[in-house]
Amino acid sequence: KMSLDKKTIDRAARQMLERTRADGVKTVWDRLEAQQPQCGFGLLGICCRNCLQGPCRINPFGEPSRGVCGADADTIVARNLLRSVAGGTSAHVDHAYEVVEALDKIAKGQIDYQIQDEHKLKAIATKLGLETDQKDITTLAGEVAEKAFESFTNHTSETMGWLAAWAPQERIDTWGKLGVLPRNADREIREAMHQTTMGVDADPINLLLATVKQGLVDGFAGLKLATDIQDIIFGTPQPVKAETNLGVLKADHVNVVVHGHVPLLSEKIVEWCRRLEEEAKAAGAAGINVAGICCTGNEVLMRQGVPPATNFLGQELALATGAVDLMVVDAQCIMPSLINVAQCYHGEIVTTMPISKIPGAHHVPFTLEEADQQAREIVRRAINSFKKRDMNRVQIPEEKVPIVAGFSVEAIIGALAKINAEDPLKPLVESIKNGAILGAVGTVGCNNVKFTQDLVHVELVKQLIANDVLVVATGCSAHALGKAGLLHPDATKNVAGPGLRQVLTAVGEAAGLGEPLPPVLHMGSCVDNSRIGDLLIALADYLGVAVKDLPVAASAPEPQHEKALSIGTWAVAMGILTHVGLPPHVLGSATVSGALTGQPVESLLGGKFYVEADPVKAAEGLINHLKSKRKALGL
Ligand code: SF4
Ligand code: FE2
Repeated sequence: KMSLDKKTIDRAARQMLERTRADGVKTVWDRLEAQQPQCGFGLLGICCRNCLQGPCRINPFGEPSRGVCGADADTIVARNLLRSVAGGTSAHVDHAYEVVEALDKIAKGQIDYQIQDEHKLKAIATKLGLETDQKDITTLAGEVAEKAFESFTNHTSETMGWLAAWAPQERIDTWGKLGVLPRNADREIREAMHQTTMGVDADPINLLLATVKQGLVDGFAGLKLATDIQDIIFGTPQPVKAETNLGVLKADHVNVVVHGHVPLLSEKIVEWCRRLEEEAKAAGAAGINVAGICCTGNEVLMRQGVPPATNFLGQELALATGAVDLMVVDAQCIMPSLINVAQCYHGEIVTTMPISKIPGAHHVPFTLEEADQQAREIVRRAINSFKKRDMNRVQIPEEKVPIVAGFSVEAIIGALAKINAEDPLKPLVESIKNGAILGAVGTVGCNNVKFTQDLVHVELVKQLIANDVLVVATGCSAHALGKAGLLHPDATKNVAGPGLRQVLTAVGEAAGLGEPLPPVLHMGSCVDNSRIGDLLIALADYLGVAVKDLPVAASAPEPQHEKALSIGTWAVAMGILTHVGLPPHVLGSATVSGALTGQPVESLLGGKFYVEADPVKAAEGLINHLKSKRKALGL
C-alpha cells in the first residue's frame, strides 16, 4: 500500500485521504493501485485497435513486429499520438466554439450576457483587419464572431485566420515550409481522424507533421481564440487577491463548487450565488460560498476572485469534506467517480452539457438562452441540498493559503508601465539582459496520479525561482503552486533569488502594491496558455529576435490529459523547449520518441520535448537551457 506522503504533498488532501481510507471510499489513488501492473503495450503505444482485424500489438523485443495490416511500431505509435493530440485539440476548439457562439448571440441580442471589455474587442478587431471606427459595439462583436467562425469552418484553403493574424512571420514561414499551416480547425481535426484510420498514413514522420499541425490548431483556434473571446465577454483579468485549498469551504455556508473548463456557466453561477444570498439565509445558512476546481475555477478566480478549492487530483477530496452541497460541472477533467464520493459524504453533482453526463448526477441542460434561469435553479438546488447536510459529518481541513492571481498580459504590462509608461516592456527586457532575471519558464497542465500530487510542480518551481527564473503558471500547475504559497509576495521575499527578488520588489513598489509581485505569476486557465504565447511574441518582437531564441522554456510537470499533449505540441511548434514529467505513450517507437525529443523536430522547429521526472534534475536541465539561449543571444 502506498503511504500518504507518497500520494500528495498537500496536507489538506492527506487529511481527506485519511478520512476516505477510514470510510472505505475509493479514490483515484486506489484505482491506480487496482490497475497495476498497467498494460505494457499501452504504455509503449504499440497496441492498435483502429480496425476490426485487430486489436494488434507489437512485441517490442521481437515478433510479431507488425499488425495484421502490416503496420509496424513506428506507424502505430505515431498514429496513436496524432489521435491523442487531435483529441486534446478538439476539446479546446469545442470550448472556443462555445464562447464564439455566445459572442455571436450577444451581437444578435439573443442572450443575456454583456460585453465587458470593449477595448479588447476593438484591439482584436483591428488585428483581424476589421474597420472599427464609427461602428457600434454589437456590430463589431458580430463581425469578430464571424471571423472567428471562419477559423473553425472556412470553406477556402487559406491559412486559419486566427493564426495568420497573431503568429509571428518567422513562424508562419517555418510552418509553411513544413506544410503544416492549418486551414481551419474542423477540417484539420477531421483530417487527423481520416489520416489515422486503417490503411491511410503509414509514414511516422508524415504523421508527426500532422501532429504539429494539430498543435497549431490547438494554440490558435483553441487556446488563443477562447481566451480572446472570454476576455471580451467577461473582462480581461487584473491582479486579484484570494485564498486557496480546502479551507476555503465554509461549514456555515451553502458551498457551491464550480468544476470544469468553460466559464459561460460558472460566471452565471457566481452571479446567482450572490443574488440568492437571502434565500440561503432563510434556509439557515450564513450565506453562499462559491469555490472552484480546475480551470473553470481559474476563470472565475481570475475575473471574480473566487477561491480555488483544489486542483485536479483533489476533486474527490473536496466532496469528502461533507461540506460541498453542490458541485456543478461543465466539461473536461471531471472524474465519473465524483458520484460515489458524494453518495457517501453529501452533495449533489450537477452536469450541464449535452456531451458531458454522468450516471447518478442530476442533469440541468444548460443553454445560453436560459442561462439565468438554469443558474438560478442550480443555486437553489444547492440551498436545498444544504438543508439536508449532516453537520456532524462535516470535516473541513484548516489549510487556506493567500494568493494573488489575475496576471493577464494587459495586467503585467500595466504593472510594468508604472516604471516606464512610454516603453513598458523595457524594464523587464533590461532585467533579462543584465542577468537579474535569468529567463522565464511557464509551468502548466495537470496533476497525474502517477506522481505525488503537486510535488513535481512545487519542487521544480522552487528551484527555478531560487535561481532567478521568473515563472508564469496556468491550470492545475498554478493551483499546486498557490497551495504551496508560491503565488504570494512572501515567496518573493523568502524563496526567490536576489536578482528576481529585486526586480519584483521594484515593480511591486512602482505599481503601488506596497509589496513585491509574486515570483510566480498566475496567468489563468489552460486555454490562457495563449497569454503566455502572447507575452513571448511581444518580447521577441521587442528584441527583434524569434521566439525560439528567447531564454524561455515550458513545463508540464505532471501531465495527464490529451489537452496537455496538444498544448505541448503547440509550445514545441512555437520553438520552445517543453519539459514533461512523464512521456506520452510513444516509447515503443525509437523513431517517434527520438524525433520528439531531438532530431528532426529541434532543427525544424527550434523546440523539442524534454522528459524528466525528477524536479531537481528538470530544473537543472531547464536552467542550462536558459543559459545556452542567453549565450547564443550574446547575454
Ligand atoms: Fe491491426 Fe492494422 Fe487493424 Fe491496427 S489497423 S488493428 S494494426 S490490422
Ligand atoms: Fe485545465
